[in-house]
Amino acid sequence: MTADLRMQFLEGMSRAATFVTVATTDGEAGRFGVTVSSLTSVSADGDHPSLLACIHHLSPAGAAILRNRAFCANLLHEDQQAVSDLFAGRLAAGDHAARFAGAPWLESPLGQPMLEGATVSFECRVATSVLWETHHIIVGQVTAVRLSESPAALLYGQRAYRRAVHLAAAT
Ligand SMILES: Cc1cc2nc3c(=O)[nH]c(=O)nc-3n(C[C@H](O)[C@H](O)[C@H](O)COP(=O)(O)O)c2cc1C
Repeated sequence: MTADLRMQFLEGMSRAATFVTVATTDGEAGRFGVTVSSLTSVSADGDHPSLLACIHHLSPAGAAILRNRAFCANLLHEDQQAVSDLFAGRLAAGDHAARFAGAPWLESPLGQPMLEGATVSFECRVATSVLWETHHIIVGQVTAVRLSESPAALLYGQRAYRRAVHLAAAT
């Protein structure tokens, strides 16, 4: 791959505004969490609804999700920028226990950390995963959903946090 192609890919992807998720896990491998923009819906109509996330192979959170076989995908509310930074290691919290100390948590039925105030939390069992070059593509079967009262999701695009605004219908 050329450096130019990589830069063009990164610039192109920076234009794809996405919602921001903190993927958390707890179990025999310990309690970990990481900020991701790669969460994607896969299917509403399988045995269970399913989703996927792509997590770097060196992330301790990704390794722990695979060992714990469960995780919670917490879609951040537009007021939760600081939680995104915390779980992206931007506030000097490489220590995952310190990350958890900076936000309030509930426990999901499978014992996964659910972020209080998240727009929605999806509790998942790991269904399958593929290591593709640098990232684990992790597919989760959704086992529980917790919806908050506010659907206003935090977005990330053009290398900055954003919020969605309603556009008037085109005339
Ligand atoms: C908005 C945003 C989106 C991110 N999306 C991803 C992602 O989809 N996958 C990933 O592996 N890292 C992603 N990162 C980077 C990780 O959050 C960061 O590298 C990680 O927290 C480093 O800590 P860890 O390796 O201890 O888990 C993202 C960071 C930010 C700020």
